[in-house]
Amino acid sequence: MCGIVGYIGDKPVVDILIDGLHQLEYRGYDSAGVAVQCGEKINVYKAEGKLENLSSVLMQHKDEYSASTLGIGHIRWATHGAPTVVNAHPHTCNCGNLVIVHNGIIENFKELRVKLEKLGAKFKTQTDTEVVAHLIAYKYADTQNLTKAVQLAVKEIEGAYALCVMHNNDKNTLVCTKRNAPLLVGIGNNEFYVASDVPAIIKYTKKAVYLNDNQIVTLSREKMVLIDENGNELQPKIETLPWEPVALSKMGYKHFMLKEIHEQPDVIRNILVGKLHTTEEPIVLNEVKLTRETLKNLTRIQIIACGTSLHAAMIGKYIIENFCGIAVDVEASSEYIYRKTVTDANTLVIGVSQSGETADTLTAIKQAKAKGSHVLIITNRPDSAMAREADSLVPVSAGIEVSVAATKSYIAQLVSFYLLAMYMAEIKGSLESSVLKSLKTDLTQIPQKIEQMLSHKEKIQQCAKIYANTKDFIYIARGINYPTALEGALKLKEISYINATGYPAGELKHGPIAMLDESMPVLSILMKGSVYEKLLSNSEEAKARNARMIALTNSKDEKLKDLFDFIIEVPDIQELLSPIIAMVPLQLLAYYIAEYLGKDVDQPRNLAKSVTVE
Ligand code: AGP
Repeated sequence: MCGIVGYIGDKPVVDILIDGLHQLEYRGYDSAGVAVQCGEKINVYKAEGKLENLSSVLMQHKDEYSASTLGIGHIRWATHGAPTVVNAHPHTCNCGNLVIVHNGIIENFKELRVKLEKLGAKFKTQTDTEVVAHLIAYKYADTQNLTKAVQLAVKEIEGAYALCVMHNNDKNTLVCTKRNAPLLVGIGNNEFYVASDVPAIIKYTKKAVYLNDNQIVTLSREKMVLIDENGNELQPKIETLPWEPVALSKMGYKHFMLKEIHEQPDVIRNILVGKLHTTEEPIVLNEVKLTRETLKNLTRIQIIACGTSLHAAMIGKYIIENFCGIAVDVEASSEYIYRKTVTDANTLVIGVSQSGETADTLTAIKQAKAKGSHVLIITNRPDSAMAREADSLVPVSAGIEVSVAATKSYIAQLVSFYLLAMYMAEIKGSLESSVLKSLKTDLTQIPQKIEQMLSHKEKIQQCAKIYANTKDFIYIARGINYPTALEGALKLKEISYINATGYPAGELKHGPIAMLDESMPVLSILMKGSVYEKLLSNSEEAKARNARMIALTNSKDEKLKDLFDFIIEVPDIQELLSPIIAMVPLQLLAYYIAEYLGKDVDQPRNLAKSVTVE
C-alpha cells in the first residue's frame, strides 16, 4: 500500500530516492518523505500530497544534501493517521538518530505504544509505524548494533512490514527486513538499491535479491550480509530481474490508462505465443504442475481474488464450468480468510492477482496451501510473493501496468482463464474438438477485433460527453457478462467517483428498479447469445421507467434504436468469448468520462495499485 526505497553507495542519494519513489507512486501517493545522511546528522524532508511537493521542499535544501550518498524514502497510502506532513514517513526516535520507513501494518502498535511511552518514548504522530522507530531505538541503546537492534525489535512486532532503517552512529550502514510485504535489494558496484518493487531499481541494475520473510539484510558500501531471524548468515540468492528497463512513459498518450488500453491487442498476442500454437494443437501451460491424474479426478475449484481480479475470477467460473464440468466457487479474498472454509487436498485453489502482492489474496492462498490444496496463481508478476507460493503458475504477461485502474491485466487474466480451461478440458476430454477448435480460432482473432474498436473511439467519446454529468450509473447484463457489468461499473466508479453499480439484469425488478427515472443512465451489455432476449426484456422494463438507455451490443437489430438512446456497436464474437470484446468499450467509456470530468485518471483519490495491507 506504500512504497519504500533506500540507497547506500557513492552516488547523490536524493535523486535516486525521488526517482525510485516516482516509480512507486502507483503504490500510494498521499504524502512522501526522505531521510538523508547529511554529514554528522540525518536530515528528514517530508511533504503532504503528490511527490512533486516533496521535490519542491527538497529544492530549498539542496546544499544540505548535495554530497549525501546514504538515504531512505517513502511514498504513502495512509492506513493509520491522516495523510499529513507529521504522519508522513520517515519516522524517528526521540532524538532523531534512528530513522525508518515502513510499508505494511503493525497490528499490535497500540500495545507497543503504551509500553514504549512507559519507557519514555515521546510520540509525535498517529501512525502505527512510529512505534517501530522507538522500539528499534531502545534495542539499539542496549546492543549498540543496528542489525541486532532490528533483529530483536521485529520479534515483538505482529503484522506486516517492509522496513529500511538508518542510524546516525552508523554512517555506512542500511538495515532492511520484511514480513508479508515485498522488499528487494538491487546490487550495484559498491552500492545497493532497496525498494518495494522492481520499477524503482530496474534502471540501475538487473541483479537483485528478493528478501524472504524475517530475513534481515545489512548493507554497507562494501558488502551485503544476509541473516535469518536467529542471526544465522545466509547466502543471498542473486536473481536477474525479469523486466526490461521499461520506459515507464506514456508513449504519447495522455494517461497510462489509455496507453494500457491500447496495448491490449498485443498483450493478447503475447499471451498466446507459446501457449496456443495452432487450432489443431493442445494448449501448452508449462508452469501448471497439476498431474493429468489429478486433473481427471478434480471435482472442485475455488477461485480467490479482489477487485477487478475478482471479476475476472467470476468469468473464470463460467468458463471452467462450461468447458470442464467442474464445480467452481468464487470468493473475495477478504471474506475467504475470515471464515471456516471447506478447502482440502481435493480442491484446486486458484489465486488471481495482477500484482501478486495483494495482502488478502496472499493470506488466503497461504491458508489454502496449509490445508493441502494445490495452489495455482494467475498473475502479472511472476516475481511476486504469490508466484513464489504457487504450486502452479499462469503468468498473464501483460507488462508492467502503471495506471491504478486495471485494464490490460484484466483482459490478460480473462485470456489466461480461457487457456487454462481449454488446457483442463483437453486433459479431461470434456469439450468436443470442434468446439475447442472454434474457441481457439476465435481467440486468435480477438486482437484485431479490439484494434477495430480502438480505431472507432469517437463514438465512445461522444457517449462519455452525453452521460458524464450523472451522480449514478447502472450496468446490467446476464450470464457470462454479469461480471462484465460489475467490472464496467468498478472502472467508472474508481476513476470518475460516479456511483456506478453493476447488477444481474434479472435482479433489477427485485429492488434496484426503484432507482430508475429520467436521470439514471442504464447501460445494457446486450451481446448475442443465450440470454439476449431475456436481457432485451429487462432493458424494456428499465426503459418503461424512463431510464436513459445505452446498449453495448454486437446485434444489428434495427429495432434497438427504438429502445436505446445510445448504441455502442462492437464486433461480432461467440458468446463464450464476448466478455473480452465487451470490456474494452467499457474501459474506454470510464476513461473518457473521468477525463471529461478532469479527474486524476492514473492515480484516483484514496486508491493504490497494490493493496498490500489486509
Ligand atoms: C482495479 O482497477 C483496482 N485497482 C483494484 O480493484 C484491484 O483489482 C484489486 O486491488 C486487486 O489487485 P490485484 O489484482 O493486484 O490483486
